[in-house]
Amino acid sequence: MATRFIFLSFCLLFSSTLTISNAKIFPTFPSSRITPEKLSSLISNSKDSQGLYKTKYHTQILDHFNYNPQSYQTFQQRYLINDTHWGGSKNNAPIFVYTGNEGDIEWFAQNTGFMYDVAPKFKALLVFIEHRYYGKSIPYGGYKEIAYKNASTTGYLSSTQALADYASLIIDLKKNLTATDSPVVVFGGSYGGMLAAWFRLKYPHVAIGALASSAPILNFDNIVSPYSFSNIITQDFRSVSENCYKVIKGSWKQIEETAKKPGGLEKLQKAFRICKSEKNLAIESWLSTAFVYTAMTDYPTPSNFLNPLPAFPVKEMCKAIDDPKTGNDVFAKLYGAASVYYNYSGTAKCFDLNGDSDPHGLSEWGWQACTEMIMLTGGDNKDSIFEESEEDYDARARYCKEAYGVDPRPNWITTEFGGHKIGLVLKRFASNIIFFNGLRDPWSGGGVLKNISKTVLALVEKEGAHHVDLRFSTKEDPQWLKDVRRREVEIVGKWISQYFQDLAL
Ligand SMILES: *[C@@H]1O[C@H](CO)[C@@H](O)[C@H](O)[C@H]1NC(C)=O
Ligand SMILES: *[C@@H]1O[C@H](CO)[C@@H](O)[C@H](O)[C@H]1NC(C)=O
Ligand SMILES: *[C@@H]1O[C@H](CO)[C@@H](O)[C@H](O)[C@H]1NC(C)=O
Ligand SMILES: *[C@@H]1O[C@H](CO)[C@@H](O)[C@H](O)[C@H]1NC(C)=O
Ligand SMILES: *[C@@H]1O[C@H](CO)[C@@H](O)[C@H](O)[C@H]1NC(C)=O
Repeated sequence: MATRFIFLSFCLLFSSTLTISNAKIFPTFPSSRITPEKLSSLISNSKDSQGLYKTKYHTQILDHFNYNPQSYQTFQQRYLINDTHWGGSKNNAPIFVYTGNEGDIEWFAQNTGFMYDVAPKFKALLVFIEHRYYGKSIPYGGYKEIAYKNASTTGYLSSTQALADYASLIIDLKKNLTATDSPVVVFGGSYGGMLAAWFRLKYPHVAIGALASSAPILNFDNIVSPYSFSNIITQDFRSVSENCYKVIKGSWKQIEETAKKPGGLEKLQKAFRICKSEKNLAIESWLSTAFVYTAMTDYPTPSNFLNPLPAFPVKEMCKAIDDPKTGNDVFAKLYGAASVYYNYSGTAKCFDLNGDSDPHGLSEWGWQACTEMIMLTGGDNKDSIFEESEEDYDARARYCKEAYGVDPRPNWITTEFGGHKIGLVLKRFASNIIFFNGLRDPWSGGGVLKNISKTVLALVEKEGAHHVDLRFSTKEDPQWLKDVRRREVEIVGKWISQYFQDLAL
């Protein structure tokens, strides 16, 4: 029996299927089979990387938190910079910093159009800093085969080290630019949003404020229900059509039963156009990945954050189920729905379930998800669109031990950054944070959804998906999205003018 085991998160394009019967774990990396060139030609609202920023490297220290000789090793940390609209250090013009997430920083920089869109208004310098162990910011001389090799070399990958990297890089950059009085505002989406919020809390002397978009900082330590993630996905589909929800919900048993019958695997392989070479048919995991990520990126305009998708892709998936083009049986309907996510570009010859393509370099999230990022999203109650199941923490811990030789520390994040009774704590302590959440995003279940004080604000949009506010604006953007961005600009503007008033005193 297979349990859904979404191990990862945010943008991570893989989920693992845990087969309890033989205690084997099969991570799968559904690949879209689309070349990067094809991808960028499909992005209507993303820009060519060439024109967006310049690439720089900074010598960064391996371990900020102890003084053993090996801690003094260094690595090259990449950051991207755009000074087209910067008002300069003489004017103390602001610096907007994106706190990089778990992947190649270029990918995030190209998908965070909001910062480019608002740069002229604020005369801001834009800086996008890559998270250590991702992209080109690899310790041990840039050699992934060493950096990712074992727990001794990967052990320096953590959120606290990343935040310290950002702080020291920003301070050094300001010195180099003779811009020590320029206010810094940090921005981030998803894990990057968590980092932005935490950065404001831990380094208030470096950043005057943070825009944390779709940052599920409460998805730890049972602060929110482990069912919240699936409940939101369920609601996303169910609100489009009850039939669509029922077909998907009913399909899991049918797939399992078919797989057990003689010739069943061949039947499934054919029904879902899965490549012939596949040995391990983790179809349930492949399908649930499509539902999860489509719910996350249920944007009102065409996008290609994870895969190329039409506007309102959940609606499109349900259309494929409610009004099937390729046959009336359940598998044909699901094939149609999965094709919205995996083959919207129309270029897939067959679907490769075990392909290990990882175009955005997200693989080391696996380490983070096994050490500190213990986010509880695996529970499914009886109404879930997925099969009913409980979060299986022990299975995760066993997997982590086997895969990385580490024991997770499920309480560390709340110990280091807080989270329990967040309103009570931040009301008196924090200031200048915006938490944006779109309620269609399954991660919004772990987001801050209530205003905490006059300056620790929750902007909540029921039509919104995963960090939709940070995307490039388009002519087709709905009014609610324009309003969200306008409020964000107003609030950031207030922080900056307050800072200049204080500076002048
Ligand atoms: C920088 O960003 C602006 C938009 O804010 C854009 O017009 C410009 O092309 C970008 N590129 C570079 C290299 O500065
Ligand atoms: C991890 O890999 C490094 C680099 O190859 C090696 O020096 C070290 O002994 C390894 N550590 C363990 C615990 O295997
Ligand atoms: C600041 O300048 C020094 C000397 O050129 C350089 O080594 C360092 O990397 C620069 N800092 C940043 C953040 O680019
Ligand atoms: C992908 O879409 C194209 C165009 O509709 C179709 O020809 C192709 O068979 C599809 N691929 C798969 C694997 O279904
Ligand atoms: C929080 O306060 C802001 C500013 O007053 C307001 O725009 C926003 O709607 C409030 N958020 C919630 C969730 O009530």
